[in-house]
Amino acid sequence: MAKKRILTGDTPTGKLHIGHYVGTLENRVKLQNEYETFILSADTHALSTLSKTPTVIGEHTFQNVLDNLAVGLDPKNVVFWTESGVPELYELAAIMSMYVSHNRALRNPTVKDEIKMKGLGDHFSLGFVNYPIFQAADILGVKAHLVPVGVDQVAHLEQSREIARDLNAITETELFPIPEVLVGRVGKLVGTDGNPKMGKSLGNTIYLGESKEEVQKKVMGMYTDPMRIRATDPGTVEGNPVFIYLDLFGTDSDASAVADFKARYVEGKVGDIEVKQYLAGVMERFLAPIRERREYFEARPDVVRQIMIDGTLRAREENALTLKELRTLLNLSVFVG
Ligand code: TRP
Repeated sequence: MAKKRILTGDTPTGKLHIGHYVGTLENRVKLQNEYETFILSADTHALSTLSKTPTVIGEHTFQNVLDNLAVGLDPKNVVFWTESGVPELYELAAIMSMYVSHNRALRNPTVKDEIKMKGLGDHFSLGFVNYPIFQAADILGVKAHLVPVGVDQVAHLEQSREIARDLNAITETELFPIPEVLVGRVGKLVGTDGNPKMGKSLGNTIYLGESKEEVQKKVMGMYTDPMRIRATDPGTVEGNPVFIYLDLFGTDSDASAVADFKARYVEGKVGDIEVKQYLAGVMERFLAPIRERREYFEARPDVVRQIMIDGTLRAREENALTLKELRTLLNLSVFVG
């Protein structure tokens, strides 16, 4: 039996960081052999937020593909593609949008949050509100079964599932699998500054390709327990970003050292600096192989471009097949034969 499919992707607005890793990238890596995996760059969607500087989208797309390769996705198996390289997607999204009410589109909680967070007021484009429908086309165009994403995407996935169900009902078929959502082991990763969300615009990130020195500096400057003034004060482990990162990025061989640090921290028997120094080592062990693979591909841009070209052609075939089926089912097939 053919493998089931994964589709997921990134909006090319900047490099990916360790929050993306625990949110979605590690699931992509884990499942890449079990599923046929499609990873897209939502470059057309990026126009809705980067409309003043469209030239950077290509560069961000390239960087996002590097990040995905760096964490260990195998370009021999994984299909990397871009929205803009698959015009069939626009038609799929246009057809889907005929079945989504205007109110439903505006009710999407992630869209509402983004409007608030980005301070868009009522100056957001039609395409911005339509984005979750485009995302449904991204997913349904390749008939994906599973979508590994960060928790902020769950509302979008609910809408994709609705669209899949509605189109199946309208066409009285099972044309689309109802895509399952897979959220990473951490919904939102706390930033280095203690902000509950790590984000580029918040300046509290650790990027996947970042240099050893830069990471050390960021770790040594991390927010810990604000109530703790001296190393002899009892400290709080719960919710402390340094311990959260130790738990997430340490390996089994760190477990006993981390348990010991926690015990001493609570008793006021270890200073922040010593714990942070240990964390710096943990982060370096985690990031070194990622950085190495990233540098390998970064030095071979032609190889990366070919991966994207091949993948986009492959994804285009799938989308064209789906579109043809959908057009036929909806009696839009007069000119298709
Ligand atoms: N909206 C996602 C993000 O910003 C990116 C994305 C676009 C996506 N299309 C997708 C994710 C389809 C999963 C499936 O992170």
